[in-house]
Amino acid sequence: MNRCARPVVRLATAIRHASQGTRTYVDSSLAENVKTDLKNVKKNSKKQKRSKVPRKNPITGEPIEPPSGKVEIKGHSVLLGARLRRSFLYVPAHNERFLEKALKSAADCIVFDLEDGVAPSEKKQARKNLKNLWERLATEGYRIGENQGADLCLRINHEGWLGPKQWEGPSKTIQAPSLEIDQDLDLLALRSVLKLGVNVVAPKVNFPYDIRNIRELVLQKQKAVVDPSRQIKRLEMIPTIETALATLNLGLFHSHAKQFSAMVFASEDYCASMGIPRTQDHSNMLFARSQLVHVCKASRNTPIDMVCQDFKDLSILEKECEEGVYLGFEGKQAIHPDQIETINRIFSPKIQEVEWAKALLEAVEKNKTDGAFEFEGKMVDRPVFRKAENILEISNRIEKFEKDKFVTKLEF
Ligand code: COA
Ligand code: MG
Repeated sequence: MNRCARPVVRLATAIRHASQGTRTYVDSSLAENVKTDLKNVKKNSKKQKRSKVPRKNPITGEPIEPPSGKVEIKGHSVLLGARLRRSFLYVPAHNERFLEKALKSAADCIVFDLEDGVAPSEKKQARKNLKNLWERLATEGYRIGENQGADLCLRINHEGWLGPKQWEGPSKTIQAPSLEIDQDLDLLALRSVLKLGVNVVAPKVNFPYDIRNIRELVLQKQKAVVDPSRQIKRLEMIPTIETALATLNLGLFHSHAKQFSAMVFASEDYCASMGIPRTQDHSNMLFARSQLVHVCKASRNTPIDMVCQDFKDLSILEKECEEGVYLGFEGKQAIHPDQIETINRIFSPKIQEVEWAKALLEAVEKNKTDGAFEFEGKMVDRPVFRKAENILEISNRIEKFEKDKFVTKLEF
């Protein structure tokens, strides 16, 4: 979308995009989807409207009054050219059962883990499993019921990332700081990976040059296995911020924002690095989480929130997701397939938000103005129109993405 165009000019496109009607939510099983979810969402929203209990501020726990009985508009950030990464599912790669199951989940992003989810004694097996799986996907393709839309990522091991020298090999070439990392990065130089386009999640980075060096080294390795005339798919880097030092350096990451496309906040390691407990209200992590969101928003990268470890209680997850959206996160890490539906749902605009956005943009068009006017008892002006456009843009993007996510028939 041309961001410089005046809102009135963009209206027709925005409304056309949003006019397709129902939005699809796909659960881990292929058969369950759209209608039941839409009904539930409608039913829940009716319940919420009727309820006299005021909603709570997810951070402070204080009650907040919904604005004049109307739906509360979050105004999700626009996803400028970036992928949808609402749910970010970790899959410890030594476990073949998990690998199979992950491919059948509705995760927007599947992160094959070689780091902390895998015991040192299992790392070798984990690499072998990934090699086999990627070979199968690249040669035979995805099977019926598998999620072909998910962004595939590899979470590599880390070495404390001590400084630029750590990456220096003979005659100043870049080399991996350990054999373990070298083996992880070798995995990314497979032909299957080049075909599938697997991205990198870099844990515990402390400085932007860690990201640059990992990327350079992977590209170096990839170039060695392909025909030099062939272009290599863009390799996206996703650093995870999980130390006090990385949090302090978030400003530096902003200056190198072109090096990565999303950023992840990892609560457990952050709390360990700070020597603090992970409290129920998460207030002691607000500084780091909010800073990370600001860096991402200022640099058009996707901020991804912490894991909810209570994977058996979806009401806790739901509350955490609301809190994440409220802070500006655009997605959340998951550790279990059962968490995906809740995360995808809450990190998507609600039906009422989409309806509100359409009605507002229609009113703008009718009024033939992009200045301030009254809408549903409130003053609206350009920032509000932009919010409405963002909601429609995201909703439209989600609808398209969900439509083709799962393989329903095999193409020969
Ligand atoms: N990815 C893919 N599939 C998963 C999965 C995951 N992360 N976690 C569980 N599953 C699958 C199981 O294989 C099982 O499927 P099956 O019955 O068809 O075999 C199903 O989901 C239900 O699993 P369940 O029995 O409820 O969980 P579990 O006891 O097997 O595992 C955990 C629970 C927490 C140990 C497991 O979910 C896990 O290891 N998560 C990832 C942890 C991680 O990556 N940590 C590092 C990042 S923070
Ligand atoms: Mg961690």
